[in-house]
Amino acid sequence: MAIKITGTGSALPEKIVTNFDMAELVETSDEWIRERTGIAERRISTGDTVSSLAAKACADALAMAGKAAEDVDLILVATCSPELLLPCCACQVQSSIGAHQAVAFDLNAACSGFLFALNTAYAYLQTGLYRNALIVGSEVLSKLIDWTDRSTCVLFGDGAGAAFMELSEEDEICENGRPVGIEGMVMGSDGAKGMVLACAERAVSNPYYQETEQVNSYVHMDGQEVYKFATRQVPACIKEALEQSNLTVDDVDLFVLHQANVRIIESVAKRLKADLSKFPMNLDRIGNMSSATIPVLLDELNRNGKIKKGDRLVLSGFGAGLTYGASILVWGA
Ligand code: UT7
Repeated sequence: MAIKITGTGSALPEKIVTNFDMAELVETSDEWIRERTGIAERRISTGDTVSSLAAKACADALAMAGKAAEDVDLILVATCSPELLLPCCACQVQSSIGAHQAVAFDLNAACSGFLFALNTAYAYLQTGLYRNALIVGSEVLSKLIDWTDRSTCVLFGDGAGAAFMELSEEDEICENGRPVGIEGMVMGSDGAKGMVLACAERAVSNPYYQETEQVNSYVHMDGQEVYKFATRQVPACIKEALEQSNLTVDDVDLFVLHQANVRIIESVAKRLKADLSKFPMNLDRIGNMSSATIPVLLDELNRNGKIKKGDRLVLSGFGAGLTYGASILVWGA
């Protein structure tokens, strides 16, 4: 049995906002943002929604896989910024692309969302309950950002990425002897530290109760705490996933990490004693798109021919929750 990604897709808003544009909004500079984060520009929605971006990314992934929307069994959308509380974004996507047979629901693990969706879909496919799944990370974070808070507004962008996963009955062994599929995964959550990166929804309000505390409905973050968490937890969970599968860092061809900060990625590479050239990055061009960063990078690598059959990839993310995870897969398409 092999579970493999046979198609990827992505969608980004057209509007490019550079660091120089940001410096016109808040007291910041291109130099500060580049040095501290590695980001030069980001894409910002001028009307694109989480569901419209997700639907486009899904259509691209299906086209690459050569599959019709009616054949999709499961749609999982990871998002923390849906345009509607209900129905869920996955149901909107199902309707937009015409995947009438699919079971569709959302999950929210913030920036780890795509990874958690991948692992959830894997579990469904492995039991044989579903034969394929569209997994998506889609965000319009620009509406959750306080555009007067320079410590957060320079970091984030909008976009969506998707992957189509399929189950085949036969084992598939690549020319290099590696079996196609997902070889290992680690996921974790630390709710006790949740408030270091948070954004409130509506407060409780009904005829019997009225929340009196002020609700902050914009993203607020203790950047240094998140930084410490990421640089400690990401290498630890990658090592754990590799050890579980009797693999070492040297067995990995590419580390596709959540694109939050170039310094975090450099630190992870250093702690793993891995060559930084194995850590592709695109955050300079699109910033941090939370759950969308990993699938958008995966799609870029895939479309640019940077991933070949038999390559071993580690996908790893971290984010609000706090959540973190790593998955190891051997590329089969
Ligand atoms: O998907 C997960 C999302 N979150 C993250 O990945 C966040 C992880 N953390 C980080 O990436 C970094 O902590 C930041 C990039 C957010 C901040 O970098 P830092 O090196 O930790 O800076 P800092 O928060 O310690 O701030 C240093 C100084 C402060 O000024 P003072 O107090 O030293 O005078 C800030 O007020 O930089 C100031 N500052 C800025 N200056 C210019 C904060 N934001 C900006 C800004 N432009 N945009």
